[in-house]
Amino acid sequence: MKVGIVGAGLVGATAAYALTLRGSCSEIVLTDVDGERARAEAQDVAHAAPVSHGARVTSGDPDELRGSAVVIVAAGANQKPGESRLDLLQKNAAIFRDLMGQVTAAAPGATLLIATNPVDVLTGLSAELAPGQPVIGSGTVLDSARFRHLVAARAGVDATHVHGYVLGEHGDSAVVAWSTAAVAGLPVAEFMAARGLPWTPEIRAQIEADTRGAAGQIIAGKRATYYGIGAALARIAERILDDRRAVLTVSAPTPEFGTSLSLPRVLGRAGVLDTIVPALTEEERAALGRSAGILREAAAALNA
Ligand code: LAC
Repeated sequence: MKVGIVGAGLVGATAAYALTLRGSCSEIVLTDVDGERARAEAQDVAHAAPVSHGARVTSGDPDELRGSAVVIVAAGANQKPGESRLDLLQKNAAIFRDLMGQVTAAAPGATLLIATNPVDVLTGLSAELAPGQPVIGSGTVLDSARFRHLVAARAGVDATHVHGYVLGEHGDSAVVAWSTAAVAGLPVAEFMAARGLPWTPEIRAQIEADTRGAAGQIIAGKRATYYGIGAALARIAERILDDRRAVLTVSAPTPEFGTSLSLPRVLGRAGVLDTIVPALTEEERAALGRSAGILREAAAALNA
């Protein structure tokens, strides 16, 4: 199976690297307005293939995307220190309006996987620019991973055995849905109490703050994030390709909220097969409504 990647910057190149290490697909093509950057990144990632699961990794112009089952779109500017993801909207929307025609012409049968921020609004825009083509955004898959990582550290359990969803905007209004969180099947507070582990409202609040603030903390130290999002993109692409009906909190146009936002969704080759709205608390449901409102407003500003 072939995966195309539009944008060979840190996120796109790291996604290519993650796909190669994991053996997610047999072929990867990187494209970028800076052809030399795409060539060099593809060459560098290709050298990882013989010592990992491998893939044929090449670069080229947009028509080299043809035959891709999934096209990851990671083109555009990323957040600078102190900048919100929504601050990137107009600049990156213009880039999308410019490039999406070439992508859909080259790969009309591909599922588009949007990574560029603000990912929820750009997922909605991409769905408009690529009517009839499945469009998914990386959404809060990375935020949910961060949430699970932070709870796992407190619980002393491997993060793969910690469950929990972050919903809504991949951004400042993200909803950390504690009602969906469990460690080895037990609600977090129960698990911690049963083991005499510290668990206070302050600890919960810190986990929420660190989940939402992770990108800012990383960007302050190294000016960009790419390993977490690169691995998340590889995981989402893999789950689309292997049609395993995995559940991930990806972003997609969601009529009942009037915008694209992240909810747990069943994924397959055709993209989103089903959407699940968890049984949230009153407070979580209200926060999700607020997050949707912020995204509707941002999308409206885009079309203004
Ligand atoms: C982050 C970027 C991908 O959260 O938005 O790291």
